[in-house]
Amino acid sequence: MADDVKLAQAEKFDVGGVEMLRPFCIRRLGHFGIDVHDVEICRDFYERLMGIRVADPLDLGGRLPPEEKDAHGSTVGYFMRHGTDHHSFVIFPRRVRQRIMGKRAEDMTVNQITWQVSSLREVVSGNSWLKDRIRVVRTGRDMPGSNWHFYPVDPAGHTNELYYGIEQIGWDGLSKPKLMHRKHYDKPPELPHRSELAEIEEGIAAGVDIRTGVRPIERLPETHDVGGILMGRPFKVVKIGPVRIFVPDMNEALGFYRDTLGLTVTEEVTYKGHTCYFLRANTEHHSLALYPKALRAELGVSEHTSLLSIGMQVGSYEQLVRARAFLKEQGQKIVTLPQELFPGIEHNAFVIDPDGHLVQLYFAMEQVGWDGKPRPAALRPRIDNENWPEKLVASSTAYAGEVYLGPWN
Ligand SMILES: [Fe+2]
Repeated sequence: MADDVKLAQAEKFDVGGVEMLRPFCIRRLGHFGIDVHDVEICRDFYERLMGIRVADPLDLGGRLPPEEKDAHGSTVGYFMRHGTDHHSFVIFPRRVRQRIMGKRAEDMTVNQITWQVSSLREVVSGNSWLKDRIRVVRTGRDMPGSNWHFYPVDPAGHTNELYYGIEQIGWDGLSKPKLMHRKHYDKPPELPHRSELAEIEEGIAAGVDIRTGVRPIERLPETHDVGGILMGRPFKVVKIGPVRIFVPDMNEALGFYRDTLGLTVTEEVTYKGHTCYFLRANTEHHSLALYPKALRAELGVSEHTSLLSIGMQVGSYEQLVRARAFLKEQGQKIVTLPQELFPGIEHNAFVIDPDGHLVQLYFAMEQVGWDGKPRPAALRPRIDNENWPEKLVASSTAYAGEVYLGPWN
């Protein structure tokens, strides 16, 4: 049933002056995280090779019982960013997280799947509305990162997060100093809350030195001409996502992501008897893809994780071709998977991170317009990921959708 028909029959919520079925509206995938065996090795992969910068470390040691502080390896994880959002990607130590989180599925290496809404009121009202319906494990404010949030958990145990107001990092590359986080929030704030500008002014008046945040450095010599800019690698990650996960019960997963969170199913594809669903927030063909868990072994991908892949979009087709060559030269393994599993995405390849997670590199994502219909499959260009042409003919998909803001760094 279309949302406008459901609206006529259902309780309505005011989202910024628009009546909706839920008291929030997810605008985009904001960030994504994984738990990994060796954080430092993975940091090297994502930072040096992929160009994702560290915004801030976070030591989880204080959340362990004191006698176990050294029992589970390094307790430090990293908030990382490809653009100005304080974090678009996070990596945390798996053994420590397992100890803190308690019993979870063996293959749960997804740390968080995080969705942006557009006001603090959406976060506060969304939390009140959802916590009586589904499991919500934490609420308040992320430090570091400053985003107001709550964490609903999907039926298979994947932690999701809805947030508003993530810290932005500017020209100087410095994250917000720790001392600016002057107040801890572990529950929703009273509304209205003062602005971030007012908080920062108060911090400065209290003597906080605004130059004491973390600043990233380039770890490779800047020798690659990327669209006229010298960079450490021949590509720039300009967007995170889509997320692809295997789920044990598709109906339960659709109930959560479609019916509860309000993502829209753009397309379903049946591959060798397995029906897969592609859901979007906003106009991209999909921000999240759900695959039946039975497909995992058939594809021959790692069984240590319920994650099929995390997408990292690069800035152009040329960059995609050069990224694949560069990562191969750096000794990384590149694989391809059946294109039928990725409707809406054109040329793509996967690089395997040191923990065995697949990172999907691509440059073009189909966009969905006013009528909510994807491009018919028969009208899509045929993609042969074993044989990429030197040049592509322009299509409606190339360079459409979310735009990266600011200089490539
Ligand atoms: Fe988060």
